[in-house]
Amino acid sequence: MTTLAILTAAGSGTRLGRDLPKALVALGGFPLVVHAARRLAASGVVDSLVVTCPAGLDAAVRDVVAQDPHVDVPVRVVEGGSTRQASVAAGLALAGPEDDVVLVHDAARPLAPPRLVRRVVEAVRGGHGAVVPGLPVADTVKRVAPASSAGGVERVVETPDRAVLRAVQTPQGFDRALLERAHARGASRATAEGLAATDDAGLVEALGEAAYVVAGEESALKITTERDLQVATLLLQEES
Ligand code: CTP
Ligand code: MG
Repeated sequence: MTTLAILTAAGSGTRLGRDLPKALVALGGFPLVVHAARRLAASGVVDSLVVTCPAGLDAAVRDVVAQDPHVDVPVRVVEGGSTRQASVAAGLALAGPEDDVVLVHDAARPLAPPRLVRRVVEAVRGGHGAVVPGLPVADTVKRVAPASSAGGVERVVETPDRAVLRAVQTPQGFDRALLERAHARGASRATAEGLAATDDAGLVEALGEAAYVVAGEESALKITTERDLQVATLLLQEES
């Protein structure tokens, strides 16, 4: 019984706008993907890592992650796909029968702390087949009609009760067989409808299976823009 973590790092980082993929951008002197891998390894509950990388960057990603002295678990690197969902599927293809639990984590969340990794794995091992960390939402959220924008004005369809909303993060944790079923179905939907999921629990929900939320962490914030990188730099300084 082992836990495999798929660390997605195959994105290009368009919104960050650097001349290298986001996962290789430095935060406090180390690439985002290294920070994320270190914290997965430090959790003590991850047995091996599969890192998805951009085309042609296998060697570069393997060098920085596998050779980091703090990443003391086996590391494999696989080329990702054109969507996050396809990248996760490429990583999942390397899971073995002994990997009963699979985590999916974004290199774009470099500071997700080891205790969060443990919290997610514990919930999966406690019998919850699909587990995501989530935080309460501070803003009131409106749902608008798709493509309803006219001159920058959109029609509101619904205002869900904020108390029951959660903004979800990674790592997300799964029973491997359930995640494999969810991705198989997700792949056929992506082909048929051109829809790719931005989150793996969503694929499980689409199967009609239950997904569960555990408490998230502010420090698991996602790096999308330069400003996020500045916030992460402050958090990293607070950590030490
Ligand atoms: N990802 C991936 N394969 C893709 C796209 C994204 O493995 N084809 C990964 C990214 O590397 C990232 C995570 O999925 O760790 C979340 O994606 P996102 O934050 O959107 O990162 P990017 O796609 O790199 O950024 P952008 O959308 O701004 O280009
Ligand atoms: Mg993206």
